[in-house]
Amino acid sequence: MSSSRGAWASRIGLVLAMAGNAVGLGNFLRFPGLCTKYGGAFLIPYFIALLLLGIPLMWVEWSIGRYGGQFGHSTAPGVFDKLWRNRFSKYLGALGVALPLLITIYYCYIESWCLAYTWYSVTRPFAPQEGDTQKILYSPVSPQFVTEVAAWKSSRALALPITRTEWEQKGQNLKSANPRRFEKLNPPAIFSNLDTNRDDSLTTDELTLQSSNNSNLMRDLISQDRESQLTKEPITQAEWLAATEDILQHNPEMARLLKLPSDAAFTAIDLNKNSALDPPERLAIEKPLANARTQLFLDEYLGSRSYEDPAIEATYFRTLWPAVFFWIVTVAINCLVLGTDINAGIERLAKIAMPALIIFAIILAVRVLTFQSPSTAEHGYTVWDGMNFIWEPRFDQLANPEMWLAAAGQIFFTLSVGTGSILCYASYLKRNDDCALTGLATASTNEFCEVVLGGSIAIPMAVAVFGLFGAQAIASGGSFNIGFVAMPLIFEQMPLGRLFGPIWFALLFFAGITSSVALASPMMAFLQDEFGISRKSAAGILFGILIGFGIPVVVFPGSAYLDQLDFWAGTLGLFIFALIELIIFGWIFGGKEMWAEMTRGAQIPMPRFVYYLVRYVAPIYMFVILGLWILQEWQTLTSVESFLPEQRGYIWMARASVVTVIGLVALLVGLAWAIKNSSPPPERRE
Ligand code: PHE
Ligand code: NA
Repeated sequence: MSSSRGAWASRIGLVLAMAGNAVGLGNFLRFPGLCTKYGGAFLIPYFIALLLLGIPLMWVEWSIGRYGGQFGHSTAPGVFDKLWRNRFSKYLGALGVALPLLITIYYCYIESWCLAYTWYSVTRPFAPQEGDTQKILYSPVSPQFVTEVAAWKSSRALALPITRTEWEQKGQNLKSANPRRFEKLNPPAIFSNLDTNRDDSLTTDELTLQSSNNSNLMRDLISQDRESQLTKEPITQAEWLAATEDILQHNPEMARLLKLPSDAAFTAIDLNKNSALDPPERLAIEKPLANARTQLFLDEYLGSRSYEDPAIEATYFRTLWPAVFFWIVTVAINCLVLGTDINAGIERLAKIAMPALIIFAIILAVRVLTFQSPSTAEHGYTVWDGMNFIWEPRFDQLANPEMWLAAAGQIFFTLSVGTGSILCYASYLKRNDDCALTGLATASTNEFCEVVLGGSIAIPMAVAVFGLFGAQAIASGGSFNIGFVAMPLIFEQMPLGRLFGPIWFALLFFAGITSSVALASPMMAFLQDEFGISRKSAAGILFGILIGFGIPVVVFPGSAYLDQLDFWAGTLGLFIFALIELIIFGWIFGGKEMWAEMTRGAQIPMPRFVYYLVRYVAPIYMFVILGLWILQEWQTLTSVESFLPEQRGYIWMARASVVTVIGLVALLVGLAWAIKNSSPPPERRE
């Protein structure tokens, strides 16, 4: 063991750094997004996953991290190599360096938006303009349902015969709605192709065949149509019912895929307060275009809208440079913190950022719960309806496997387990330091910041201002929309909002940076421990990696690239790595040895059932969830069919980058061990 290994300077510093690791954007953005999506049913699988998976895994990562630290290893390759004497175990450990690195790559970008928004919420107003209006769809069940029925419409169009007139009509619609896209798809050529066929004499079957040969074009034409359906045409409840009825009858398979609600779900509609619907049976109504300005701001900031398109006049940003600037600054700050000794960098950062963010969050939560929204008179919802929406258990909606997966995934992400990042921090503990109590304290702090603080800010506020359905509609536009689209606008309209806006975004930035340094730590430690590179040089290398691999995340339009990284590394990857940890620690290292590690130095008695949780319950629970997940979602996850053609290239590039990073780290692992086996171990320099 090298004597120059970093160490935590104080217990409080360690606790704050661990809490800083866990408390992040997951608490204040991801969690509210999921709650809005699933409503009152979500917290049930969420707490079950916390107890069965989250807390046991927290203890496991603390224990194996502290164990590895004794041998001078802070990352999974070295630790696995000690836990499981086998030539291959260190390569499994490569995941514990590659996954957090991949997450850091996109996490830093989102973190940089928080920095930018802190700045802009001080310097630029987002006031909405007179007369902007927007259709908001009030779906009986949820906004997803709107999309589902619309998707059904398009799938039916693909499956059912279509006439030439319909084809042409769709082409016309597309041409007027989106001429550039029309040009790209070049439907006229295909239409004339159709013309050369015996069009009039074609049986409907032949025509269907004809159109299915062009199914890509078809889908595009239809999805264009579907957008216009969603935004322009009001739909009545009767129409909804008819559509559902129709699909259940004609295409039960499709009904299953779309997860169409049963009758029960429709009865649930009546229980919702849709008195705000106007006229009552119309499910789509016109509303002031409340979030248009802030949505535009976000779109332009991220370059989601083409700056070159002459038809679109940029209002806030004409280039991507501001986003690039804030991103580079954010990455640089991270690397500066990481380049400093652990107690002077990460620990000091946590000592400042954690108390600040908790105070900010409490201020905001108190402000929210005492907020009387002027819009309540209009739609009837208060902040308390937002609270009820999250907290009122909906036992009737539990039979949704996807939600159980999402809940377990959120527990992993929010507690930072399954990445190797907690493991890395814990490796700086001493052999007999407590893991049990401090690990539990970390998890509790995170849960306080998530369900109490994270749950009391964005959702209740958005519900009070936009109504329940309005808030859901905004959330369905993207996982960050509640935070970056709804919140700035709310602050704009509330007394002292100019003060609360920056507080909200600074809170997000603080939460983000204490997590991104934790995410980057395994790569840092890997370079230092296994190659003997100095801390400063490692931080420099890290800067290069984060910028190099981050460029596509920043410059490619749309969120497809980022979403892919978030899925493969940030969701599926965590599951797989956590499962590997459980098996290596609980089974290969051995049950008795594991228990001895977990209980050594414990300042609270570790109940015996935790042993069974770690060895049996957690892995089985995870296998079941993973299995269901793969069965249910694999097709949609792996196919690129559901993406716009111009996005497909990005999807493959993102997947390739995941494979590349994992492969490169595995290569480095092999190299490090080859060097070590041929020479004495490198002296770790600080
Ligand atoms: N837990 C962090 C959050 O909630 C994210 C994170 C995941 C950090 C994994 C480190 C490791 O945002
Ligand atoms: Na968290």
